[in-house]
Amino acid sequence: MTNKIFVTRKIPEIGIQMLRDRGYVVDVYSKEKIPSQREIMAFLRKGGYDAALTLLTDKIDARVFDAAPSVKMYANYATGFDNIDLVEAKKRNITITNAPGDRTAEAVAEHTIALMLALAARIVEADEFVRRKKYKGWVPMNFIGMDVFEKTLGLIGAGRIGERVAFYAKGLGMKVFYYDVQRNQKIETDCGAIYCATPEEILRQSDVVSLHVPLMDSTRHLINTDRLRMMKPTAYLINTSRGPVVDEGALESALKSGTIGGAGLDVFEFEPAISSGLRKLQNVILTPHIGSASVRARDQMAEIAAQNIIDFFEGRIPRNVVHK
Ligand code: GLV
Repeated sequence: MTNKIFVTRKIPEIGIQMLRDRGYVVDVYSKEKIPSQREIMAFLRKGGYDAALTLLTDKIDARVFDAAPSVKMYANYATGFDNIDLVEAKKRNITITNAPGDRTAEAVAEHTIALMLALAARIVEADEFVRRKKYKGWVPMNFIGMDVFEKTLGLIGAGRIGERVAFYAKGLGMKVFYYDVQRNQKIETDCGAIYCATPEEILRQSDVVSLHVPLMDSTRHLINTDRLRMMKPTAYLINTSRGPVVDEGALESALKSGTIGGAGLDVFEFEPAISSGLRKLQNVILTPHIGSASVRARDQMAEIAAQNIIDFFEGRIPRNVVHK
């Protein structure tokens, strides 16, 4: 019997083609918008699909599983998988995979460094200044920023992406400290990163704090008012992980009051909504969750998701199965 796959958004063709080459029937949601959960449920139920290739914007929970009992496997096109209820999936013996490629780690790490350097060199404010025709001649004391050479970068989370950020930061001459629930020998050996046993140690000593943890109960609001107060008043916070890791209201207050120096955010607590307060601040740079938006990263994500589906149907354990 032919396997039927539903893909909830247009993704790079390379992944779709891999599935079609296997003779699978692949249907791709065709609208230029995020499908609602109701739409996903209706498609899955009507189409009698065997697997779904889903995005981080799709909430896949008990409602979806119950509406579409034919779907035995969900391949998430993302490194993160907080959009999927793993406990409910396990109860129904449904397989869930993610797509954590090296190219994605490199792209997100590059975006992290881009946000850090853009804050440090005040690129966005300066660009706006020029565009508004305010540049009337060289000024010795305008747009004084921070240099990152010999400054301290503190990573909270040292998985594949954190490791890559450390590697780039080392190239910039930064000292790297990291906290994770487990020690990472590779980051210590390759980048000279120094382990800290608590996030607090990172927050107190870093000039730049960068978050690279998955969103879980234990990391929700990891950065809150108390922890922001531990940071240096000149420090920058970079978040390219998941929005709810930071209490966004607390961050907005900290940025307004000068508790910290600035922030670079690619993700938001109530994405795609962003508080109007944050949007008005000069000391924050905002990008619309584009950390992995490079050609190579997105192609590799499509390949990984497709390969996970193929492995599942060909009786192998997919490489990227995720569990609670
Ligand atoms: C993007 O945020 C991802 O998890 O891949």
